Order: sequence, then C-alpha cells, then structure tokens
Amino acid sequence: MNKRLTINDLRHIIAPSILAADPLRLAADIERLGGAARCLHIDIMDSHYVPNMNGGPALVKALSQFTDMVLDVHLMVERPEHVVDMYLEAGADILTIHQEACRHPHRWLGRIRAAGALAGISLNPGTSLEVLRDLLPETDLVLLMTVNPGYGGQKFIPAMFDKIKRCRELLDQQDHRILLEADGGITVENSSMLWQAGLDVMVAGSSIFQAADPAAQVRVLESGNGGI
Ligand code: DX5
Ligand code: ZN
Repeated sequence: MNKRLTINDLRHIIAPSILAADPLRLAADIERLGGAARCLHIDIMDSHYVPNMNGGPALVKALSQFTDMVLDVHLMVERPEHVVDMYLEAGADILTIHQEACRHPHRWLGRIRAAGALAGISLNPGTSLEVLRDLLPETDLVLLMTVNPGYGGQKFIPAMFDKIKRCRELLDQQDHRILLEADGGITVENSSMLWQAGLDVMVAGSSIFQAADPAAQVRVLESGNGGI
C-alpha cells in the first residue's frame, strides 16, 4: 500500500493528471509516460463540491496494483471525511482534502497521517492562505488550485503566481518541511516561473497527455526550459 514516502522523496516533481488521459486506454497512456514521472495525480470529483464527476476508490486500487508510481489522490468531494478511509485502503500515498469541503480538516489530516499516507490540504483560488495557518502542524502538502476545480484544460489564473510565492514563505516558516503543489493550467510556458515561485510538485494534465510524446513533455516541464 503506502510506499513509505518521506517528504524528501518529493522535490521538484511532475505529477501527470490522468483526468486528461483516455479513460478507455488508461493503462496505455500511463505507459506512454515511460517512467519519466514518479507520481500520478488522480482527481476524484463528486458532482457536488465540483460540477464534474470522476474516479472512485476502485480506480485508485486498480492503479496501486498496476504501477509503483506514487499515487497523489486529490479529493474534490463534499465532506471528504466520509470517504477518506476508503481511499487510504485503496492505496493513496498522498491524500488531499479541500479545506472548503471539510468541517474538521485538522482531525482528518491527522487521520491520514496516522494511516501512513502524506496528508494534503487544498485551497481553491478564492480561498485565503490565512485558513492554512493553524492546519500546518498536521499538514505534509499544500495543494493550491490555480484554476477553479472541476475540469482539465482551463487557463492558469495569473494572480496565483503571487499566492504561490506567499504560500512558500508561509511554509518555510514552519518547523517541519511541507510540500507545495499547484494544479491547473500548467504548461511548458509557465513551468519555469512556477518552479521559481517555489513549487515542489506540479500537476499537469492536458499539457502532458495531449502532447505527441508525453514522456518528453514531462521532462520539459521538469526542466522548466520550455518558457518563451
Ligand atoms: C482540475 C483538476 C486538475 C486537472 C488539471 O480540477 O484538479 O488536476 O486535471 O488539468 P490541466 O493540467 O489540464 O489544467
Ligand atoms: Zn487535481
């Protein structure tokens, strides 16, 4: 199940989002990554917290049996407390809940950690970083949404650059290391600026799976050398 991750295993990495893969050829699309990425981002949507619907614990379990990649599960669901245990059992290595969707995020972050997974908290573009402050002692990863969640292929919201920088400063003031991840609208054009802003993990869906060579695209995103 859990791959005994430590925070130091996850620096400067790309997490391809399989939301942009072909659902009828998912295994083949993951193989097209050719080992270039060590982490896979799995979006779970419930049609309540976000308008779209996608994924479930059976998908996470099947992926955990199929690949050794780190499974980064992003729960875009209302009241994630009802499903956290199912995704832990299914094999999530990183399990991220939305602050806006959960009544007791501090409790559930602790629960994720106690199960041996990395505990992630996500914020929508319109949610202030202030809500993070008292959750950070229980947090391993902060996932900043850089589009409004629910769909792949949207445009990066420019104001999120500054939010990423401010979040990095906040995380660096803590007495344990916390990973910073961003999700939505990440392309080879903005990846260099995003690394510089202080990200550890970049999620990218359409820019990877719509490329002719997804493995090469991962490497370009990782290098940050595709900028204009
Ligand atoms: C959006 C999802 C993202 C999505 C990103 O709600 O959380 O993970 O797959 O897709 P792109 O990279 O196409 O913006
Ligand atoms: Zn996501």
